[in-house]
Amino acid sequence: MAEKVLVLLGSPRKKGNSALLAGEIIRGAKTAGAAGESVYLHGKKIAPCNSCYACQKEKSRGCAIQDDMQDIYGKLLDADAWVIASPVYWFTMSAQTKLFMDRLFALPAYAKNPFSGRRIAIAMTYGGEDPFDSGCVNAFRTFQDAFGYVGATIVGYVYGSAMGAGEILSQRKKMKEAFELGKKLVSG
Ligand SMILES: Cc1cc2nc3c(=O)[nH]c(=O)nc-3n(C[C@H](O)[C@H](O)[C@H](O)COP(=O)(O)O)c2cc1C
Repeated sequence: MAEKVLVLLGSPRKKGNSALLAGEIIRGAKTAGAAGESVYLHGKKIAPCNSCYACQKEKSRGCAIQDDMQDIYGKLLDADAWVIASPVYWFTMSAQTKLFMDRLFALPAYAKNPFSGRRIAIAMTYGGEDPFDSGCVNAFRTFQDAFGYVGATIVGYVYGSAMGAGEILSQRKKMKEAFELGKKLVSG
């Protein structure tokens, strides 16, 4: 069975820079034999976590919020690896991505140890000059701490400076990096 990679796109731009990097990751993963599926988070109804803790109760049946995250929980569990792609917005990940991250809190209500062994690649783009001044590293720290806490493995990060949608395409080296990360994501 081919490994499954689920891509979570956190930009409103379907053909934006972070989505293009994620696309290359998937292309790389496919050459390593994986199958890919993308979820465009901006087009989904994903409410903020309401802190009811229903998901943390013993014998919980999952997140109390009945929205599009319910379908995404299933897809997340079904995938061997995840790609999270986000633009930098106000010195961290986009709100769309953060809503998704907060709602991951409920994933353990759907399956035992849902994060352990899960392999993750992160793709981010920013308009600033470098990952520090742009705020990209703030998001990286969040992903690192969050996925470290739950026991998932971040296989790698790809990131680049690009402002206009599609500008990242001219950065051949970045696109190649993304492609290689995709191969690494599935081949260990
Ligand atoms: C609301 C908003 C906030 C932004 N904040 C930042 C920022 O804090 N730092 C930065 O370097 N770029 C910032 N940018 C620029 C985007 O990160 C940049 O254009 C990025 O490549 C967009 O990725 P996308 O094409 O995948 O949407 C911002 C853009 C928008 C629309």
